[in-house]
Amino acid sequence: MYPKLAVNCSDINSPFCPCLLADTNHCISCSHLRGLPFCECNWSGLCILYEKQWQSKGSGWRGENNLERWDITTYISRREQFAPNIHLLEFEVSEEMARELRTTGSFVFMRRPDDPQYFHFPVGIMKIQDTTATVVIEAIGPKSIRLLETPDNQILVRGPYYNGVLGQPWIDNITCGTILLVAGGMGQPPALPIAAKLLANGNKLTAVLAPGKIGKIFIEKELQDMGVEVHSVESMRRNGLGMLSQWLGGESKPDLVVSAGPDDQHHAVINAMDAAGVNLPMAVTNNATMCCGEGICGACECETQDGHPVKLCKVQTGFSQLVT
Ligand SMILES: Cc1cc2nc3c(=O)[nH]c(=O)nc-3n(C[C@H](O)[C@H](O)[C@H](O)COP(=O)(O)OP(=O)(O)OC[C@H]3O[C@@H](n4cnc5c(N)ncnc54)[C@H](O)[C@@H]3O)c2cc1C
Ligand code: FES
Repeated sequence: MYPKLAVNCSDINSPFCPCLLADTNHCISCSHLRGLPFCECNWSGLCILYEKQWQSKGSGWRGENNLERWDITTYISRREQFAPNIHLLEFEVSEEMARELRTTGSFVFMRRPDDPQYFHFPVGIMKIQDTTATVVIEAIGPKSIRLLETPDNQILVRGPYYNGVLGQPWIDNITCGTILLVAGGMGQPPALPIAAKLLANGNKLTAVLAPGKIGKIFIEKELQDMGVEVHSVESMRRNGLGMLSQWLGGESKPDLVVSAGPDDQHHAVINAMDAAGVNLPMAVTNNATMCCGEGICGACECETQDGHPVKLCKVQTGFSQLVT
């Protein structure tokens, strides 16, 4: 049995820690900054209490050194339509934003600049080339359709946010392993930077891709060019999961399984592992409904199996440790 992941905050060691939760005595990682008289942190190389006291020397309830996420008004510089509702967008961001968005699992909130903040919605970063960000958006409801119809191509991008993948430490720490990557539908855009990170650490990847509800596979060639062994199937449910079960039940098991797609797919992959009698580390794309992205509004709250509420916009944990 592999070890459980410690519950931790994805903002630690970022420019945005200590955050609003530390200011309001609800820090995820520092027990002192939750009002307790002792330290029980998982040392991450940084003392949030020390940072907080040092930064609070400024005026106001937020210290003057506290950083808020960056809002960037920018323009869609390129669009490509992959399928009836699926649009690839490119836009420029600042150098500091681009640097932060290179972290695997990064995402931004997007809206039209003149719309109220509650129109913004989370969008994963598929690629960052210099200061050009690439995302893929499914035009599905009021927020996404409105963004895609923005006049003059003007958009507002807020970020960076980091918790787009649950089980991220497995991806960050594995080297020279074999990985099974399962990506369906809108799981394809986040699968690309995950694959790039895993390949950069000397891992060998086999990917199973399915078009999902959007009806299109669009990362196959790029993954193949990167050196991934790709198996594209018509349907994850009808063909992909059977293929997965065969591999999981075979002689050589992967060291890590990554599922990029909807929660139903994550559960189907867990069921395939259970059926094959294997229990492997797993990383998945985070599909929580997010509104503020700061651990404040509560939209993304979920419960762990040991009964603790966690805000999935910030808290890093394993998907199978959640009650879903
Ligand atoms: C970390 C993360 C990364 C994401 N990356 C992408 C991406 O790269 N491209 C993309 O097209 N979509 C992405 N999504 C999903 C995207 O945020 C939703 O599709 C979008 O919010 C839909 O809003 P809507 O008003 O257009 O549609 P709605 O009709 O409001 O919603 C359609 C469906 O989208 C989901 N959704 C709605 N609001 C939210 C919300 N605030 N947060 C999360 N999910 C929501 C719900 O499942 C809902 O059923 C991501 C979500 C998360 C959490
Ligand atoms: S999105 Fe607001 S608390 Fe997570």
